[in-house]
Amino acid sequence: SYNGINLTPQMGWDNWNAFQCNVNESLLLNTAKAMVDYGLRDLGYNYIVLDDCWSIGRNETGYLVENPEKFPSGMKHVADTLHGMGMKFGMYSSAGIFTCGRFPGSLGYEQKDADLWASWGVDYLKYDNCYNQGQSGTPKLSFDRYNVMSQALNHTGRKIVYSLCNWGNDDPFDWAYTISNSYRMSGDIYDSFNRPDSRCPCTESIGCAWPGFHCSVMNILNKMAAIQSRSQSGAFNDMDMLEVGNGGQSDSEYVVHFSMWAMNASPLLMGTNVLTLSPANLAIYSNPAVIALNQDPSAGAAVRKWQYFLDPDQTGQGEIALWTRGLANGDQAFALINAANTSMTMNATLYDIFLDAATAGAYQTPAVLGESWDVYDLWGNRMSNTEAGMLINGTAPTLDAMSMSNSTSWYN
Ligand code: GLA
Repeated sequence: SYNGINLTPQMGWDNWNAFQCNVNESLLLNTAKAMVDYGLRDLGYNYIVLDDCWSIGRNETGYLVENPEKFPSGMKHVADTLHGMGMKFGMYSSAGIFTCGRFPGSLGYEQKDADLWASWGVDYLKYDNCYNQGQSGTPKLSFDRYNVMSQALNHTGRKIVYSLCNWGNDDPFDWAYTISNSYRMSGDIYDSFNRPDSRCPCTESIGCAWPGFHCSVMNILNKMAAIQSRSQSGAFNDMDMLEVGNGGQSDSEYVVHFSMWAMNASPLLMGTNVLTLSPANLAIYSNPAVIALNQDPSAGAAVRKWQYFLDPDQTGQGEIALWTRGLANGDQAFALINAANTSMTMNATLYDIFLDAATAGAYQTPAVLGESWDVYDLWGNRMSNTEAGMLINGTAPTLDAMSMSNSTSWYN
Protein backbone atom coordinates (compact mmCIF):
# COMPACT_ATOMS: atom_id res chain seq x y z
CA SER A 1 0.00 0.00 0.00
CA TYR A 2 1.52 3.32 -1.05
CA ASN A 3 0.04 5.11 1.98
CA GLY A 4 -0.18 2.22 4.43
CA ILE A 5 -3.98 1.83 4.34
CA ASN A 6 -6.69 -0.18 2.56
CA LEU A 7 -4.78 -3.45 2.91
CA THR A 8 -7.88 -5.37 1.82
CA PRO A 9 -10.42 -4.06 -0.73
CA GLN A 10 -12.55 -1.19 0.50
CA MET A 11 -16.22 -1.96 1.19
CA GLY A 12 -19.16 0.37 1.48
CA TRP A 13 -21.85 2.12 -0.51
CA ASP A 14 -21.82 4.73 -3.27
CA ASN A 15 -24.97 6.53 -4.40
CA TRP A 16 -24.21 6.72 -8.12
CA ASN A 17 -25.67 3.52 -9.60
CA ALA A 18 -29.04 3.90 -7.93
CA PHE A 19 -29.43 7.66 -7.42
CA GLN A 20 -27.03 9.47 -9.79
CA CYS A 21 -27.25 13.22 -8.99
CA ASN A 22 -30.28 12.83 -6.76
CA VAL A 23 -28.32 13.05 -3.50
CA ASN A 24 -28.65 14.86 -0.20
CA GLU A 25 -27.55 14.49 3.38
CA SER A 26 -30.57 12.52 4.55
CA LEU A 27 -30.01 9.92 1.82
CA LEU A 28 -26.46 9.41 3.06
CA LEU A 29 -27.37 9.32 6.74
CA ASN A 30 -30.48 7.14 6.32
CA THR A 31 -28.48 4.71 4.22
CA ALA A 32 -25.74 4.58 6.83
CA LYS A 33 -28.28 3.91 9.56
CA ALA A 34 -29.84 1.08 7.54
CA MET A 35 -26.40 -0.40 6.93
CA VAL A 36 -25.75 -0.45 10.66
CA ASP A 37 -29.21 -1.90 11.39
CA TYR A 38 -28.88 -4.62 8.74
CA GLY A 39 -25.47 -5.69 10.03
CA LEU A 40 -23.73 -4.51 6.86
CA ARG A 41 -21.31 -2.24 8.70
CA ASP A 42 -20.23 -5.12 10.90
CA LEU A 43 -19.66 -7.25 7.79
CA GLY A 44 -17.18 -4.61 6.61
CA TYR A 45 -19.26 -2.16 4.53
CA ASN A 46 -18.13 0.97 6.31
CA TYR A 47 -17.62 3.69 3.67
CA ILE A 48 -20.49 5.95 2.60
CA VAL A 49 -19.28 7.50 -0.64
CA LEU A 50 -20.97 10.63 -1.94
CA ASP A 51 -20.56 10.65 -5.73
CA ASP A 52 -20.96 13.48 -8.25
CA CYS A 53 -23.21 16.59 -8.11
CA TRP A 54 -22.71 17.77 -4.52
CA SER A 55 -20.99 21.14 -5.12
CA ILE A 56 -22.28 24.42 -6.50
CA GLY A 57 -18.92 26.07 -7.18
CA ARG A 58 -16.02 27.81 -5.43
CA ASN A 59 -16.11 30.71 -3.03
CA GLU A 60 -14.04 33.90 -3.31
CA THR A 61 -11.07 32.21 -1.67
CA GLY A 62 -11.23 29.28 -4.08
CA TYR A 63 -12.66 26.63 -1.77
CA LEU A 64 -15.38 24.29 -2.98
CA VAL A 65 -18.87 24.98 -1.62
CA GLU A 66 -21.47 22.29 -1.10
CA ASN A 67 -24.99 22.72 -2.45
CA PRO A 68 -26.83 24.15 0.59
CA GLU A 69 -30.17 22.73 -0.51
CA LYS A 70 -28.80 19.20 -0.62
CA PHE A 71 -26.46 19.57 2.37
CA PRO A 72 -28.03 22.19 4.66
CA SER A 73 -26.00 21.07 7.71
CA GLY A 74 -22.68 21.12 5.86
CA MET A 75 -20.23 18.38 5.05
CA LYS A 76 -18.51 18.36 8.43
CA HIS A 77 -21.83 17.52 10.03
CA VAL A 78 -22.28 14.62 7.59
CA ALA A 79 -18.78 13.34 8.36
CA ASP A 80 -19.19 13.71 12.12
CA THR A 81 -22.57 11.95 12.09
CA LEU A 82 -21.19 9.08 10.01
CA HIS A 83 -18.20 8.75 12.31
CA GLY A 84 -20.58 8.63 15.26
CA MET A 85 -22.22 5.59 13.67
CA GLY A 86 -18.89 3.86 13.14
CA MET A 87 -18.96 4.63 9.42
CA LYS A 88 -16.54 6.58 7.22
CA PHE A 89 -17.14 9.33 4.67
CA GLY A 90 -16.14 9.25 1.00
CA MET A 91 -16.00 12.25 -1.32
CA TYR A 92 -15.92 12.61 -5.11
CA SER A 93 -14.14 14.93 -7.53
CA SER A 94 -12.49 14.81 -10.94
CA ALA A 95 -8.91 15.26 -12.15
CA GLY A 96 -10.29 17.78 -14.60
CA ILE A 97 -11.78 21.25 -14.69
CA PHE A 98 -15.28 19.79 -14.27
CA THR A 99 -16.67 16.56 -12.86
CA CYS A 100 -18.50 14.27 -15.26
CA GLY A 101 -21.75 15.95 -14.22
CA ARG A 102 -20.17 19.37 -15.03
CA PHE A 103 -19.69 20.48 -11.45
CA PRO A 104 -16.34 22.03 -10.46
CA GLY A 105 -13.35 19.69 -10.76
CA SER A 106 -10.08 19.73 -8.83
CA LEU A 107 -7.46 20.12 -11.58
CA GLY A 108 -5.22 22.97 -10.42
CA TYR A 109 -6.88 23.05 -6.97
CA GLU A 110 -5.58 19.75 -5.65
CA GLN A 111 -4.03 20.87 -2.36
CA LYS A 112 -6.82 23.32 -1.57
CA ASP A 113 -9.45 20.66 -2.10
CA ALA A 114 -7.55 17.96 -0.22
CA ASP A 115 -7.09 20.32 2.72
CA LEU A 116 -10.79 21.20 2.75
CA TRP A 117 -11.84 17.53 2.67
CA ALA A 118 -9.39 16.68 5.45
CA SER A 119 -10.82 19.53 7.55
CA TRP A 120 -14.31 18.07 7.08
CA GLY A 121 -13.11 14.62 8.18
CA VAL A 122 -13.25 12.92 4.79
CA ASP A 123 -11.77 9.39 4.76
CA TYR A 124 -11.95 8.51 1.07
CA LEU A 125 -11.73 10.18 -2.33
CA LYS A 126 -13.08 8.85 -5.62
CA TYR A 127 -11.24 10.81 -8.29
CA ASP A 128 -12.73 10.81 -11.79
CA ASN A 129 -11.34 11.60 -15.25
CA CYS A 130 -13.75 13.96 -17.01
CA TYR A 131 -12.68 17.30 -18.55
CA ASN A 132 -9.00 16.47 -18.09
CA GLN A 133 -7.83 19.10 -20.59
CA GLY A 134 -6.17 16.52 -22.80
CA GLN A 135 -3.82 15.43 -20.05
CA SER A 136 -4.30 11.77 -20.94
CA GLY A 137 -3.44 9.43 -23.76
CA THR A 138 -0.17 8.18 -22.35
CA PRO A 139 0.47 6.46 -19.01
CA LYS A 140 2.77 9.34 -18.03
CA LEU A 141 0.17 12.07 -18.63
CA SER A 142 -2.39 10.17 -16.57
CA PHE A 143 0.10 9.24 -13.87
CA ASP A 144 1.31 12.81 -13.45
CA ARG A 145 -2.20 14.25 -13.22
CA TYR A 146 -3.40 11.66 -10.67
CA ASN A 147 -0.15 11.84 -8.74
CA VAL A 148 -0.71 15.52 -7.89
CA MET A 149 -3.80 14.59 -5.91
CA SER A 150 -2.07 11.58 -4.40
CA GLN A 151 0.64 13.87 -3.01
CA ALA A 152 -1.94 16.44 -1.89
CA LEU A 153 -3.88 13.83 0.07
CA ASN A 154 -0.68 12.61 1.74
CA HIS A 155 0.25 16.17 2.55
CA THR A 156 -2.91 16.66 4.61
CA GLY A 157 -1.60 14.18 7.15
CA ARG A 158 -5.01 12.50 7.24
CA LYS A 159 -5.29 8.89 6.10
CA ILE A 160 -7.55 9.07 3.02
CA VAL A 161 -8.29 6.11 0.75
CA TYR A 162 -7.56 7.20 -2.81
CA SER A 163 -9.85 5.57 -5.39
CA LEU A 164 -8.54 6.41 -8.85
CA CYS A 165 -11.23 6.39 -11.54
CA ASN A 166 -9.89 6.76 -15.07
CA TRP A 167 -11.93 3.92 -16.59
CA GLY A 168 -8.91 1.77 -17.42
CA ASN A 169 -7.39 4.34 -19.77
CA ASP A 170 -3.60 4.36 -20.17
CA ASP A 171 -3.29 0.97 -18.43
CA PRO A 172 -3.66 2.03 -14.78
CA PHE A 173 -2.98 -1.57 -13.72
CA ASP A 174 0.66 -0.86 -14.70
CA TRP A 175 1.19 2.27 -12.62
CA ALA A 176 -1.73 3.26 -10.38
CA TYR A 177 -0.72 0.90 -7.58
CA THR A 178 2.21 3.19 -6.78
CA ILE A 179 -0.02 6.22 -6.08
CA SER A 180 -3.53 4.99 -5.21
CA ASN A 181 -5.52 2.43 -3.26
CA SER A 182 -7.69 1.21 -6.14
CA TYR A 183 -8.10 1.95 -9.81
CA ARG A 184 -11.03 1.44 -12.17
CA MET A 185 -10.16 -0.91 -15.04
CA SER A 186 -13.24 -0.44 -17.27
CA GLY A 187 -15.91 1.98 -18.37
CA ASP A 188 -19.03 2.36 -16.27
CA ILE A 189 -20.99 -0.71 -15.30
CA TYR A 190 -24.71 -0.88 -16.01
CA ASP A 191 -27.29 -3.22 -14.58
CA SER A 192 -27.01 -6.00 -17.16
CA PHE A 193 -25.49 -9.45 -16.85
CA ASN A 194 -24.38 -9.94 -20.44
CA ARG A 195 -26.64 -8.06 -22.82
CA PRO A 196 -24.71 -7.02 -25.92
CA ASP A 197 -24.66 -3.23 -26.07
CA SER A 198 -23.11 -1.38 -28.98
CA ARG A 199 -22.25 1.47 -26.62
CA CYS A 200 -19.79 -0.81 -24.86
CA PRO A 201 -17.34 -2.31 -27.30
CA CYS A 202 -15.84 -4.19 -24.40
CA THR A 203 -13.72 -6.72 -26.17
CA GLU A 204 -10.89 -8.11 -24.14
CA SER A 205 -8.36 -6.03 -26.01
CA ILE A 206 -10.02 -2.61 -25.98
CA GLY A 207 -12.17 -2.80 -22.88
CA CYS A 208 -14.70 -0.02 -22.41
CA ALA A 209 -13.01 3.25 -23.12
CA TRP A 210 -15.35 5.92 -21.84
CA PRO A 211 -17.84 6.55 -19.08
CA GLY A 212 -21.39 6.51 -20.23
CA PHE A 213 -20.58 3.40 -22.16
CA HIS A 214 -22.52 0.55 -20.75
CA CYS A 215 -20.44 -2.36 -19.57
CA SER A 216 -22.21 -5.51 -18.45
CA VAL A 217 -20.98 -7.79 -15.69
CA MET A 218 -19.57 -10.24 -18.24
CA ASN A 219 -17.94 -7.43 -20.28
CA ILE A 220 -16.04 -6.29 -17.21
CA LEU A 221 -15.19 -9.81 -16.10
CA ASN A 222 -13.79 -10.68 -19.49
CA LYS A 223 -11.69 -7.57 -19.55
CA MET A 224 -10.42 -8.46 -16.08
CA ALA A 225 -9.31 -11.86 -17.37
CA ALA A 226 -7.10 -10.16 -19.94
CA ILE A 227 -5.33 -7.84 -17.53
CA GLN A 228 -1.93 -8.75 -16.22
CA SER A 229 -3.15 -7.64 -12.84
CA ARG A 230 -0.87 -5.79 -10.47
CA SER A 231 -3.52 -6.07 -7.76
CA GLN A 232 -1.82 -6.18 -4.40
CA SER A 233 -2.51 -5.34 -0.81
CA GLY A 234 -3.55 -1.69 -0.69
CA ALA A 235 -4.01 -1.24 -4.46
CA PHE A 236 -6.83 -3.12 -6.14
CA ASN A 237 -8.32 -3.36 -9.60
CA ASP A 238 -11.74 -1.74 -9.28
CA MET A 239 -14.37 -3.49 -11.38
CA ASP A 240 -16.85 -0.67 -10.57
CA MET A 241 -19.73 -0.44 -8.14
CA LEU A 242 -22.12 -3.31 -7.56
CA GLU A 243 -25.55 -3.44 -9.21
CA VAL A 244 -27.03 -6.11 -6.92
CA GLY A 245 -30.55 -4.96 -6.00
CA ASN A 246 -31.20 -2.65 -8.94
CA GLY A 247 -33.56 -5.00 -10.77
CA GLY A 248 -31.89 -5.50 -14.13
CA GLN A 249 -30.60 -9.00 -13.40
CA SER A 250 -31.93 -12.19 -11.87
CA ASP A 251 -30.88 -13.11 -8.36
CA SER A 252 -28.64 -15.87 -9.71
CA GLU A 253 -26.99 -13.39 -12.08
CA TYR A 254 -26.37 -11.12 -9.11
CA VAL A 255 -24.75 -14.07 -7.31
CA VAL A 256 -22.30 -14.40 -10.20
CA HIS A 257 -21.68 -10.62 -10.24
CA PHE A 258 -20.98 -10.45 -6.50
CA SER A 259 -18.92 -13.65 -6.43
CA MET A 260 -16.64 -12.63 -9.26
CA TRP A 261 -16.03 -9.16 -7.81
CA ALA A 262 -15.06 -11.01 -4.60
CA MET A 263 -12.86 -13.53 -6.46
CA ASN A 264 -10.97 -10.69 -8.14
CA ALA A 265 -10.39 -8.67 -4.96
CA SER A 266 -12.38 -5.75 -6.34
CA PRO A 267 -13.66 -3.07 -3.99
CA LEU A 268 -17.20 -3.94 -2.92
CA LEU A 269 -19.27 -0.77 -3.10
CA MET A 270 -23.00 -1.41 -2.83
CA GLY A 271 -24.66 0.58 -5.60
CA THR A 272 -28.30 0.24 -4.70
CA ASN A 273 -31.06 1.62 -2.50
CA VAL A 274 -30.31 -0.16 0.77
CA LEU A 275 -33.70 0.79 2.25
CA THR A 276 -35.63 -1.13 -0.38
CA LEU A 277 -33.31 -4.15 -0.79
CA SER A 278 -35.10 -7.48 -1.09
CA PRO A 279 -34.18 -10.13 1.49
CA ALA A 280 -32.65 -12.23 -1.30
CA ASN A 281 -30.41 -9.41 -2.48
CA LEU A 282 -29.49 -8.37 1.06
CA ALA A 283 -28.42 -11.99 1.59
CA ILE A 284 -26.14 -11.79 -1.45
CA TYR A 285 -24.38 -8.68 -0.10
CA SER A 286 -24.20 -10.32 3.33
CA ASN A 287 -22.63 -13.70 2.52
CA PRO A 288 -19.79 -13.81 5.06
CA ALA A 289 -17.83 -16.52 3.25
CA VAL A 290 -17.80 -14.62 -0.05
CA ILE A 291 -16.87 -11.42 1.77
CA ALA A 292 -14.01 -13.31 3.44
CA LEU A 293 -12.85 -14.46 0.01
CA ASN A 294 -12.83 -10.82 -1.15
CA GLN A 295 -10.96 -9.72 1.97
CA ASP A 296 -8.39 -12.54 1.91
CA PRO A 297 -4.88 -11.23 2.71
CA SER A 298 -3.61 -12.73 -0.57
CA ALA A 299 -5.09 -9.57 -2.11
CA GLY A 300 -4.62 -10.91 -5.62
CA ALA A 301 -6.94 -11.12 -8.55
CA ALA A 302 -8.17 -14.47 -9.83
CA VAL A 303 -7.07 -16.33 -12.96
CA ARG A 304 -9.42 -17.61 -15.63
CA LYS A 305 -8.21 -21.15 -16.25
CA TRP A 306 -10.50 -21.91 -19.14
CA GLN A 307 -13.36 -20.36 -21.08
CA TYR A 308 -15.54 -21.99 -23.71
CA PHE A 309 -18.03 -20.22 -25.94
CA LEU A 310 -20.95 -22.35 -26.90
CA ASP A 311 -21.13 -21.09 -30.43
CA PRO A 312 -18.30 -20.62 -32.89
CA ASP A 313 -18.74 -16.87 -33.43
CA GLN A 314 -18.52 -16.24 -29.67
CA THR A 315 -21.61 -14.07 -29.45
CA GLY A 316 -25.14 -15.19 -28.83
CA GLN A 317 -24.98 -18.33 -26.75
CA GLY A 318 -22.73 -17.24 -23.92
CA GLU A 319 -19.86 -18.97 -22.25
CA ILE A 320 -18.75 -21.18 -19.45
CA ALA A 321 -15.57 -20.57 -17.51
CA LEU A 322 -13.45 -21.71 -14.60
CA TRP A 323 -11.73 -19.15 -12.39
CA THR A 324 -9.35 -19.89 -9.52
CA ARG A 325 -7.50 -17.95 -6.85
CA GLY A 326 -4.92 -19.07 -4.33
CA LEU A 327 -5.63 -17.87 -0.79
CA ALA A 328 -3.18 -16.80 1.88
CA ASN A 329 -3.59 -19.89 4.06
CA GLY A 330 -2.98 -22.32 1.20
CA ASP A 331 -6.64 -22.83 0.38
CA GLN A 332 -7.72 -22.58 -3.22
CA ALA A 333 -10.90 -20.77 -4.28
CA PHE A 334 -12.59 -21.63 -7.53
CA ALA A 335 -15.71 -20.61 -9.41
CA LEU A 336 -17.45 -22.37 -12.25
CA ILE A 337 -19.58 -19.93 -14.23
CA ASN A 338 -22.38 -20.92 -16.54
CA ALA A 339 -23.19 -17.73 -18.46
CA ALA A 340 -24.71 -19.67 -21.32
CA ASN A 341 -28.39 -19.66 -22.10
CA THR A 342 -28.72 -23.34 -21.43
CA SER A 343 -28.32 -25.52 -18.38
CA MET A 344 -25.51 -28.00 -18.27
CA THR A 345 -23.23 -30.02 -16.10
CA MET A 346 -19.76 -28.60 -15.70
CA ASN A 347 -16.84 -30.69 -14.67
CA ALA A 348 -13.64 -29.25 -13.23
CA THR A 349 -10.87 -31.56 -12.12
CA LEU A 350 -8.01 -30.81 -9.80
CA TYR A 351 -5.88 -30.75 -12.92
CA ASP A 352 -7.98 -27.87 -14.24
CA ILE A 353 -7.95 -26.03 -10.95
CA PHE A 354 -4.22 -26.27 -10.40
CA LEU A 355 -3.17 -25.85 -14.00
CA ASP A 356 -0.38 -23.31 -13.85
CA ALA A 357 -1.14 -20.84 -16.58
CA ALA A 358 2.21 -19.12 -16.09
CA THR A 359 4.10 -22.15 -17.29
CA ALA A 360 1.85 -22.67 -20.30
CA GLY A 361 0.35 -26.06 -19.86
CA ALA A 362 2.56 -27.34 -17.07
CA TYR A 363 0.84 -28.46 -13.92
CA GLN A 364 1.69 -27.42 -10.41
CA THR A 365 3.57 -29.86 -8.26
CA PRO A 366 2.26 -33.41 -8.51
CA ALA A 367 2.28 -33.31 -4.73
CA VAL A 368 -0.70 -30.93 -4.79
CA LEU A 369 -2.62 -33.33 -6.97
CA GLY A 370 -1.84 -36.20 -4.66
CA GLU A 371 -3.14 -34.39 -1.60
CA SER A 372 -6.52 -34.78 -0.01
CA TRP A 373 -8.92 -31.86 -0.22
CA ASP A 374 -12.13 -30.76 1.42
CA VAL A 375 -14.53 -28.74 -0.67
CA TYR A 376 -16.62 -26.01 0.89
CA ASP A 377 -19.53 -24.47 -0.98
CA LEU A 378 -19.54 -20.72 -0.25
CA TRP A 379 -23.15 -20.27 -1.38
CA GLY A 380 -24.52 -23.46 0.09
CA ASN A 381 -22.70 -22.71 3.34
CA ARG A 382 -21.80 -26.37 3.66
CA MET A 383 -19.17 -28.92 2.95
CA SER A 384 -19.82 -30.13 -0.54
CA ASN A 385 -20.81 -33.72 -1.07
CA THR A 386 -19.62 -33.77 -4.63
CA GLU A 387 -17.42 -36.59 -5.84
CA ALA A 388 -13.93 -36.34 -7.17
CA GLY A 389 -14.10 -34.16 -10.25
CA MET A 390 -16.52 -31.79 -8.59
CA LEU A 391 -19.59 -32.17 -10.72
CA ILE A 392 -21.72 -29.10 -10.34
CA ASN A 393 -25.14 -28.94 -11.86
CA GLY A 394 -26.70 -25.68 -12.83
CA THR A 395 -29.41 -23.98 -14.74
CA ALA A 396 -28.07 -21.00 -16.58
CA PRO A 397 -26.80 -18.69 -15.39
CA THR A 398 -25.32 -20.14 -12.29
CA LEU A 399 -22.18 -20.08 -10.35
CA ASP A 400 -20.77 -22.26 -7.70
CA ALA A 401 -18.00 -20.59 -5.82
CA MET A 402 -16.15 -22.91 -3.54
CA SER A 403 -12.98 -22.89 -1.67
CA MET A 404 -10.84 -25.89 -0.99
CA SER A 405 -8.79 -26.63 2.02
CA ASN A 406 -6.18 -29.36 2.14
CA SER A 407 -6.56 -30.03 5.82
CA THR A 408 -8.54 -33.25 5.79
CA SER A 409 -9.49 -36.03 3.51
CA TRP A 410 -11.14 -35.66 0.16
CA TYR A 411 -10.16 -36.77 -3.30
CA ASN A 412 -7.67 -39.27 -4.58
C1 GLA B 1 -18.12 8.73 -14.26
C2 GLA B 1 -17.71 7.64 -13.28
C3 GLA B 1 -18.95 7.11 -12.58
C4 GLA B 1 -19.66 8.26 -11.84
C5 GLA B 1 -19.96 9.38 -12.82
C6 GLA B 1 -20.48 10.62 -12.10
O1 GLA B 1 -18.92 8.23 -15.28
O2 GLA B 1 -17.02 6.60 -13.94
O3 GLA B 1 -18.61 6.08 -11.67
O4 GLA B 1 -18.83 8.73 -10.81
O5 GLA B 1 -18.82 9.76 -13.56
O6 GLA B 1 -20.77 11.66 -13.00
